[in-house]
Amino acid sequence: MSNITIKTAEDIAGMRVAGRLGSEVLDYITPFVKPGITTGELDRLCHDYMVNVQGTIPAPLNYCPPGYTPYPKSVCTSVNDVICHGIPGDKVLKNGDVINIDVTVIKDGYHGDTSRMFFVGEPSILARRLSEITYECMWLGISKIKPGAHLGDIGHVIQQHAEKAGYSVVREFCGHGIGKIFHEEPQVLHYGRPGTLEKLVPGMIFTVEPMINAGRREIREMGDGWTIKTKDRSLSAQWEHTVLVTETGYEILTQSAGTPPPPAFIVPTAAPQAIDA
Ligand code: MF3
Ligand code: CO
Ligand code: CO
Repeated sequence: MSNITIKTAEDIAGMRVAGRLGSEVLDYITPFVKPGITTGELDRLCHDYMVNVQGTIPAPLNYCPPGYTPYPKSVCTSVNDVICHGIPGDKVLKNGDVINIDVTVIKDGYHGDTSRMFFVGEPSILARRLSEITYECMWLGISKIKPGAHLGDIGHVIQQHAEKAGYSVVREFCGHGIGKIFHEEPQVLHYGRPGTLEKLVPGMIFTVEPMINAGRREIREMGDGWTIKTKDRSLSAQWEHTVLVTETGYEILTQSAGTPPPPAFIVPTAAPQAIDA
């Protein structure tokens, strides 16, 4: 039996607000991601913006799932071969680095969880391609979301696209249901087979957040209890949106003025289209 919650209209309204605010933290931090800044300074800027400007709570701060030590910072900063959960600190960003910044805010009890990739100065050809393919993976997965589709449909298209490009999908971490709870059912695997796993129903809310490695999929856990790196030290990329299953398809909840546009292959179907006069 599944324990996937179906959100009420009130929940969905709250999740739209939290999602927009989470995305606005990424908009805010974007101009600061430059050579010479430290990941700790990025964390401090995000923290102060959330707490003092938005009146949101940074969900990661002191977050402590079973088997973990409390997470010590307000965002995750995952640079180069760090797959996820990089802890901000003294690391100075340099030209050519790639960084994922993962933000989760809590507003009125609801969580908005989103991450983007950023290039520090000029990226390598590989870093640019890995980030682009990963972005397409996220969007291909999202494009499968509609009532009656299965979670396995999402994982399948993500895995297909990543592996066709010569990359690999991280298996140990996945997307997740989200609402008043940061991580809840279902698990959203970024690999799999079409038609398998849970059937989607309007009112479900979950994240799609593929972690794609340029090399092999195996991971290494660092001694800080959080940071996850690629075992072969290859680059890794990740993008994340929080998404609602609607009656006709999906709605991206983590949207704001600075949200990057979807890839060209995405045909909007979820909402009625405006007709130019
Ligand atoms: N935001 C991450 C996710 O997408 C979770 C980070 S947990 C933390 O699920 F404690 F590391 F912040
Ligand atoms: Co998430
Ligand atoms: Co996240």
